[in-house]
Amino acid sequence: MADTFVSVAIDGPVGAGKSSIARNAAKKLGYIYVDTGALYRAIGLYCHRNGIDMKDADAVIAALPSARPEIRLIDGVQHIYLNAEDVSEEIRLPEISMAASAVSAIPAVRTALLELQRDMARANNVIMDGRDIGTVVLPDATVKIFLTAKAEIRAKRRFDELCAKGVQTTFEEVLSDLNTRDYNDSHRETAPLKQAEDAVLADTSELDFEQSCQLICDIIRERV
Ligand code: DC
Repeated sequence: MADTFVSVAIDGPVGAGKSSIARNAAKKLGYIYVDTGALYRAIGLYCHRNGIDMKDADAVIAALPSARPEIRLIDGVQHIYLNAEDVSEEIRLPEISMAASAVSAIPAVRTALLELQRDMARANNVIMDGRDIGTVVLPDATVKIFLTAKAEIRAKRRFDELCAKGVQTTFEEVLSDLNTRDYNDSHRETAPLKQAEDAVLADTSELDFEQSCQLICDIIRERV
């Protein structure tokens, strides 16, 4: 891996604010923000659209050659394409979150997406968020951060976000989905969600958005 580029790995559970905080920090620092969850979501969307049972690993693996996700940077902003269609909005639906979590447990899916993610870090200064960035995708990342907050606080933030987008849901449903996904993501055999040994722990339970961004920027600046 080229060491001329800076890479910041941000991992953590659902709704820890990884994407909004990482996007904000990337803007301040002039790095490219890469949201790796979008790739798993694109595969989940493909399966969902085509009626493929996400629990049937063989069926998902058979579909992989036909589901080509791609990250494109448009004016420095990540868009996710599935077979040349921009699906950046559609992948955010709650049913696709669950689909992404299910397909992400299949090792062949993870392998298929690995080099796409590494290519981004080979060519850019990146802040990359996900579940296994510091442990598997970029084990030599310049800075590793494990971003978390209490489950109820993460669920409340996610609930507010979905409400603002007009998605019909309840707090209880969001909390239950979040706990299920966290459980799946941290108990799968391949590349489970866990804090890398050399990652800095950042808990934003008591912080607002601006304070969280400040904390993350400080952690990065101290180490780059
Ligand atoms: O970050 P997110 O909620 O958009 O991610 C969707 C799902 O994708 C998440 O439940 C687990 C999976 N994922 C993963 O396994 N590894 C990553 N690096 C990113 C996401």
